[in-house]
Amino acid sequence: MTAAGILGTGSGLPEKVITNLDLTQIVDTSDEWITTRTGIKERHRAAPEETTSTLCIQAAKKALKMAGLTPRDLDIIICATISPDMPLPSTAAIMQRELGAEPIMAFDLSAACSGFLFGVMVAEQFIRTRQARYILVAGAELLSRFLDYTDRSTCVLFGDGGAAAVVGPVEEPSGILAAEMHTDGHYADHLYIPAGGSARPASCETVRNREHFVKMRGNELFKIAVRSLEEVSRRVLAKAQICPNQLDLFIPHQANQRITNAVCERLGIPSEKVFSNIGRIGNTSSASIPLCLDECVRSGRIKKGDTVLMATFGAGVTWGGTLIRW
Ligand code: UT7
Repeated sequence: MTAAGILGTGSGLPEKVITNLDLTQIVDTSDEWITTRTGIKERHRAAPEETTSTLCIQAAKKALKMAGLTPRDLDIIICATISPDMPLPSTAAIMQRELGAEPIMAFDLSAACSGFLFGVMVAEQFIRTRQARYILVAGAELLSRFLDYTDRSTCVLFGDGGAAAVVGPVEEPSGILAAEMHTDGHYADHLYIPAGGSARPASCETVRNREHFVKMRGNELFKIAVRSLEEVSRRVLAKAQICPNQLDLFIPHQANQRITNAVCERLGIPSEKVFSNIGRIGNTSSASIPLCLDECVRSGRIKKGDTVLMATFGAGVTWGGTLIRW
């Protein structure tokens, strides 16, 4: 069995920044409400010509460069997204073409905010069993295209962005120490886009009813998120026999600063060991964790030998945790 780890990371963030003040011009909200309830001050928004694949490709090129690899070295491409360029074909297929990778297996993975960690866990299996050597896992969303800018309870939360990581073989003791992922479809209607799929195909009526936009029961999700993130973090740490106080860094999904604070308080992880960029980036769903990871790696916040726990929660509902020794 070969250990799997992250060999390179990269980000693709749109240039345009939308502040809370900008949003007060289009919806009944305030900087004070958004800041105190979520911690978000601003988020990026894609330009009309940008798509999920363009952000993924920017991120992938940077991740490959950091790993010292070219697209032709890749064995698999996994694109975690719930806002693909189009329903068919996959965004991963477009990435394969635009990157100039060999005709390898490339596919999209739909697990909402947990998509990146689901993808890393899938990649780990191929590497451990030596069926693949280098796997690109991207997480990217253009949720601004699926937000209802008349619904203040959702449109202020999400931002656009993409990030990627190259997963490959590493020398122990580095690599993924433990991971587990979960899905509970009983809460499927807590965060969803009702129309545009086979259940409710696009029609004049679905467009008129604004059914192609994100709908969320935020308050209920908040409680499930705190509970799930705490539980999965404890389980993953226990699997690797590591205590919360042995962690060098905790990277939680960036959904709400109050969720992060509640989880860290329960786990006893001090704020200096917790990474947060929600103030600048907002909730970017599947891009959230890899964007954090890339920022930490490039700024030196993550160093070789560090023990890093990532934990995620999202629509489905899905949740999971991954513990890595860098
Ligand atoms: O990443 C995927 C997973 N996502 C999550 O886990 C999200 C979890 N949920 C949350 O982060 C929070 O529940 C929200 C940020 C979505 C909402 O915060 P909250 O503290 O739970 O607020 P609430 O939904 O209970 O709403 C409280 C009040 C309501 O007004 P009334 O009914 O008390 O008069 C809302 O209408 O805040 C109002 N409100 C707003 N006011 C100003 C909701 N959104 C806004 C807004 N600006 N943008």
